[in-house]
Amino acid sequence: MHSDIEEVLISYDEIVKRAKEIGEEISSEYRGKRPILIGLLKGSVPFLAELMKHITVDMEIDFMDVSSYEGTESTGDVRINKDLENSVKDDDLIIVEDIIDTGKTLKKVIEILYSKGAKSVKVATLLDKPEGRIASCDIEGDYVGFTVPNRFLVGFGLDYNQKYRNLPYIGILKRECY
Ligand code: IMP
Ligand code: MG
Repeated sequence: MHSDIEEVLISYDEIVKRAKEIGEEISSEYRGKRPILIGLLKGSVPFLAELMKHITVDMEIDFMDVSSYEGTESTGDVRINKDLENSVKDDDLIIVEDIIDTGKTLKKVIEILYSKGAKSVKVATLLDKPEGRIASCDIEGDYVGFTVPNRFLVGFGLDYNQKYRNLPYIGILKRECY
């Protein structure tokens, strides 16, 4: 275990097992369709890579990089740093995220994807931190790996200042490290 980690909350084996379950669920719900997984860079990358191995219907992947900043509305706003490569008009999309906290990022991204003409937009998230949610963004993940407490977590894609994304587990970062 990395010396900056206080406790391993979710092990690699547990993540793989849950990704397989979610992959099977998606495979049965999207039978006859060809969903596009939309990975939100960079935190979703390890989960997306694990999840897609367990999806048995034809599918595609694309990526977006967005960053949130406080706008004038209470929901904040997001800036698109990297947009999708292909059109998603009339497509069935599954956003893949590392964690839903306040819900601001996803709320905006869902709006953006529908404005691009998506037929359906669902959300697959490795982690959900419901205590972080703000009232104006009461969105839920359609496929949730694990519900987690309101602590600062790193690993399996989640970072602190771009560090720790490579850890093969979800850990609680020691307080003195941030
Ligand atoms: P929100 O739901 O718009 O607040 O933002 C979710 C994003 O905040 C995630 O994609 C992460 O980048 C970041 N985030 C939220 N909680 C954590 C955490 O515990 N560790 C690392 N990043 C986090
Ligand atoms: Mg993120």
